Amino acid sequence: MSHYRIAWLPGDGIGPEVCDAARLVLDAAGFQADYIHGDIGWEFWRTEGEALPARTLDLLHNTDCAFFGAITSKPALEAVRELAPELQTRGLTYRSPIVRMRQLLDLYICLRPCRAFPGNPLNYRDHIDLVIFRENTEGMYIGVEFPKMPEALLAIPAIQALPPDAAISIRSITRDASRRIVEAAFQYAMKNGRRKVTAVHKANVLRATCGVFLEAAREVAACYPDIEFDTANIDAMCMWLLKNPLNYDVIVTTNLFGDILSDLCSQLIGGMGFGYSGNIGEKYAVFEPTHGSAPKYAGQNKVNPLAAILAAKMMVEWLGEREIASNIERAVADVVERGAARTYDLGGSASTMDVAQSVAESVRLAHAMR
Ligand code: IPM
Ligand code: MG
Repeated sequence: MSHYRIAWLPGDGIGPEVCDAARLVLDAAGFQADYIHGDIGWEFWRTEGEALPARTLDLLHNTDCAFFGAITSKPALEAVRELAPELQTRGLTYRSPIVRMRQLLDLYICLRPCRAFPGNPLNYRDHIDLVIFRENTEGMYIGVEFPKMPEALLAIPAIQALPPDAAISIRSITRDASRRIVEAAFQYAMKNGRRKVTAVHKANVLRATCGVFLEAAREVAACYPDIEFDTANIDAMCMWLLKNPLNYDVIVTTNLFGDILSDLCSQLIGGMGFGYSGNIGEKYAVFEPTHGSAPKYAGQNKVNPLAAILAAKMMVEWLGEREIASNIERAVADVVERGAARTYDLGGSASTMDVAQSVAESVRLAHAMR
């Protein structure tokens, strides 16, 4: 096995605890890597005015991939109020480091599998097995926002008609970005024996932007006649996912809709304790549990680490260590099914590290039996 270099970005809140849990399992699984710590998170915003310092970006350029825990973020005004006094007057704006990493490194795929592990008492239905492909670089996340109407926009008649204090956010969708995320979804479907891809949009209202996405999706789908293709409006999709979650397989959608659908789908399979993501580009990727930093649980060794452990599984899979990846996934399934260790969200009283130890034990067995 190669020896990898992983940028290790625990962040803040519960980030460091779930990263420790994931690390325990990676070691038990026999995964070999150097883990190089990178500064990221709220502390660096407060003291340096930058939650993703340049030195951390350099680290990302010198590693095989990154593993990210969680970070706290707060609304604009509050963020500025928490800056160190000497930074307060510099006109800094807080930007989410994860969104920046996705954009700066062109990590255009946000891959979010949602599988109902047998025996998980929180499963909404058994046998749910969905995979979300969320476009990760554009849409509502381009950061072009105006809290007050800028004069330059007043040349547009429809904008003149708005109240002068209207706040504006701009959504941008391109054909190329739409095509490549849909292509990624179909390629995944092909390679993983998936039967269907559903493209989710709101083209009846967002005619321009969702129109481009939908057209690109149809073009790509036409190249994959063996895979069923359908489309759904985002609102109806939320309803159908609750009504018939087993009807869906691979879901592909734009950035904000993907954000929303991912939390909905995580809840179908046990909540944020099970939601994990890969932010994947052509050459680099950042893996993370989808949950936030949950400051009220920080330092208590209490939260469910399975999302972080599953993110670690996805990381080693992406690096090409398929056997280790499937051992980790099997170990998670085993611990969930036996109810070997359950955190509070699953009705148990096990700690974060208890769960990690159980998964590590199960994975060590699988590793020893090779
Ligand atoms: C996610 C999160 C992020 C997002 C936040 C933290 C900016 O909700 O990864 O789903 O909106 O993409
Ligand atoms: Mg989200």
